[in-house]
Amino acid sequence: MPSNPGPSPRQTSAVCSGDFVLLLFVSPPPICCSSWWGGVQMGPPDPILGVSEAFKRDTSPKKMNLGVGAYRDDHGKPFVLDCVRKAEALISSKQLDKEYLAIGGLGDFTKSCALLALGADSEVLKSGRNITVQTISGTGSLCIGANFLSRFHSASRDVYLPKPSWGNHTPIFRDAGMQLKAYRYYDPSTCGFDFNGALDDISKMPEKSVIMLHACAHNPTGVDPKPEQWKEIADLVKKRDLLVFFDMAYQGFASGDIDRDAWAVRHFIEQGHNIVLSQSFAKNMGLYGERVGGFTVVCNDAEEVKRVESQLKILIRPIYSNPPMNGARIAATILNTPDLYKIWLGEVHGMANRIIKMREQLAANLKSEGSTHNWQHVIDQIGMFCFTGLKPEQVERLTKEFSVYMTKDGRISMAGVTSGNVGYLAHGIHAVTK
Ligand SMILES: Cc1ncc(COP(=O)(O)O)c(C=O)c1O
Ligand SMILES: *[C@@H]1O[C@H](CO)[C@@H](O)[C@H](O)[C@H]1NC(C)=O
Repeated sequence: MPSNPGPSPRQTSAVCSGDFVLLLFVSPPPICCSSWWGGVQMGPPDPILGVSEAFKRDTSPKKMNLGVGAYRDDHGKPFVLDCVRKAEALISSKQLDKEYLAIGGLGDFTKSCALLALGADSEVLKSGRNITVQTISGTGSLCIGANFLSRFHSASRDVYLPKPSWGNHTPIFRDAGMQLKAYRYYDPSTCGFDFNGALDDISKMPEKSVIMLHACAHNPTGVDPKPEQWKEIADLVKKRDLLVFFDMAYQGFASGDIDRDAWAVRHFIEQGHNIVLSQSFAKNMGLYGERVGGFTVVCNDAEEVKRVESQLKILIRPIYSNPPMNGARIAATILNTPDLYKIWLGEVHGMANRIIKMREQLAANLKSEGSTHNWQHVIDQIGMFCFTGLKPEQVERLTKEFSVYMTKDGRISMAGVTSGNVGYLAHGIHAVTK
């Protein structure tokens, strides 16, 4: 609370401006008012962005930031895809206008976005049972989806997240007014998928509940069900009559193959699940800050599509009116220009492969350091993240003694590991797990 300014008619305060100190005379604030925001409590820092802040302050030349999930090349530098640079040049040469997009976004983008996820021979697309709106990347898509469910999925408020799930899922659904529940997913004893635990929990979910599934490259664990396991999950989910919310933030990033990574989504749809789907182009096109994504609803028929579409627009309009165009133009140009599309497929494959190689090298280096632990999960897990199994005390030591920064749960972003630093990382991990 600001203190009462007292009887003095004028107050002096110092304001720093570069090297100069200016003395300003200002009127005292009126005596009646305390601050509007006196009751606002300090909130906790974001767990992931907090790691980056601490990393920035560290002066060690060997420091590594494995907290944030952004791809780096083998020199540790941010990577802009060649297909993106080429698409930008193409767009720039067209001298396009900057009028508003439609509420649902750029048509060329939303069409190809759905096509990428569902596949060219999708029955849903052929029969026009799909509606896709362009969103502010994956987060915006989840947020629009959560709010759509909150308004229209009146049969249940319950959203079941895998344990653990991406940290942002919780506030997104909670802020939309949904009830958060969880199902078993990760088994710490194997650093793998708890298939039986998941099935057991799903079999007990109340009918019509919402189940969140990560389509591929589960964040934070890097643990995905195998196709045979997905099949059983799909059957059980159907028996329980659950509404499936797929989050696909890493299509292509897991295996390097966009079709293989979309397998689970397509399988559920083929089995008759009318899913909702969130997509992001942050990782697979490296368009992080461009904020490109899509939200898709698979409907019963074209008439239902019309009604759902109208309500999505009503939902979006008062939030941001219409989405930004630049990233959507880039993604649409890549997806709709055969030459660029081909380059992109190669580059997605290249990014995924570099990560897979780093997993192998990390495991091999741990072995040659003399570690006797089983590190097979480092290789078996998939996508950007590796859930190392390190305990919070070990993570703390790794950060303090080796300047390796990561989240407390022991998750490391494999995308920040390079041929140059994988040996140092293995050395540090071995030192804290001996
Ligand atoms: C599981 C998952 N969903 C969604 C997102 C959304 O990311 P963005 O909003 O950058 O597209 C991420 C990003 O880390 C993620 O890991
Ligand atoms: C459904 O997908 C097809 C193929 O991508 C597209 O042409 C159509 O516009 C989509 N429908 C809606 C309403 O988004």
